[in-house]
Amino acid sequence: MELPMDLLGRGLRDLRISVTDRCNFRCRYCMPVEVFGHGHAFMPREELLTFEEIVTLVGTLIPLGIGKIRLTGGEPLLRRGLEDLVAMLAAIDGVEDIAVTTNGVLLAHHAEALALAGLSRVTVSLDALDPEIFARMNGVGAKVERVLAGISSAHAFGLPVKVNAVIQRGVNEGEILPLARWAKSAGVDLRYIEYMDVGETNGWKVDEVVSGDEILSILAAEFPLVSRDPAYRGEVAAHWSHDDGAGEIGLIRSVTKPFCSDCQRLRLSADGKIFTCLFAAEGHDLRGVLRSGMNPEILAETVRSIWQVRADRYSEERGRVERPKAEMSYLGG
Ligand code: GTP
Ligand code: 5AD
Ligand code: SF4
Ligand code: SF4
Repeated sequence: MELPMDLLGRGLRDLRISVTDRCNFRCRYCMPVEVFGHGHAFMPREELLTFEEIVTLVGTLIPLGIGKIRLTGGEPLLRRGLEDLVAMLAAIDGVEDIAVTTNGVLLAHHAEALALAGLSRVTVSLDALDPEIFARMNGVGAKVERVLAGISSAHAFGLPVKVNAVIQRGVNEGEILPLARWAKSAGVDLRYIEYMDVGETNGWKVDEVVSGDEILSILAAEFPLVSRDPAYRGEVAAHWSHDDGAGEIGLIRSVTKPFCSDCQRLRLSADGKIFTCLFAAEGHDLRGVLRSGMNPEILAETVRSIWQVRADRYSEERGRVERPKAEMSYLGG
């Protein structure tokens, strides 16, 4: 079967599946508590794709080029039985890599089951080691020790760990060096993320972005770093190795060095809509097709025709186009 290409010559490779729009954190840059407070209406259960529906969909998308899967949210470990979904996905021929992006608070309880189910690796978000800064940033007073325990557990059960840290000026730029020191000694691949204007609720301002170059110069004052080539085409993070060979540091520079030209990512929201860009306003509903009892082949053809007219490159156009955007907690990070 011919692989679809979008209008900018990009293939379809990664599928990021949001399994819930709920989260036990309220990071200000993602789900500010004033918007996502007690009164906020999350998706009712029956709106969520079932595991069987997700598996059917993934199975039909393999022939289009999908090989990498990331489970995300919201907080994916809040979805009951996530381990079962991992096992079901791992059994699909053509699924080469299954990762989970989590805030890590519940990871210690799930690491063993996830590893046994066939998870390839985990990405843990950790923006600060300082307990007060961490508690303020996560918006619910969660303790950093629990995240560190989650990371240790993942390691103990053989799961490779990457750590993502979003850096926001005036909030946690003082954590850049402590995080690097910790990551080097803990043996984790640490990636710093430029604060992005995702969604409509975080009140993003350009002066709150700490650029990758600035992060790098802060790091270079303490660590001799050597730039390394991308591991594969379309790698989101640019990487530097420590000159003693002990570990790596990555920068995800969506604001100052966009990587749209290689973007092979498709996102699936928990209620079954596909989004061809993290900054899209609207998705295309697949749940209706899935629940209509139509031949699953129709799904593949629907996705193919959506992909073939894709021209998204929001990060490269930032500042030049204004349009509404869906929230990241809904469409998946
Ligand atoms: P691996 O290299 O496979 O581990 O995955 P990855 O590099 O895609 O990393 P991950 O999924 O952890 O993404 C890290 C962060 O980069 C996300 O949480 C986003 O903040 C950002 N990011 C990921 N994909 C995109 C994208 O398509 N567009 C933009 N603008 N940012 C993205
Ligand atoms: N800018 C950059 N990264 C973000 N994330 C969530 N919101 C933003 C934002 N506004 C990151 C989280 C997590 C991943 C799912 O996305 O920190 O690592
Ligand atoms: Fe939850 Fe992750 Fe969003 Fe924080 S960034 S509120 S942990 S989904
Ligand atoms: Fe892909 Fe859109 Fe992100 Fe660009 S902004 S890398 S097109 S998801």
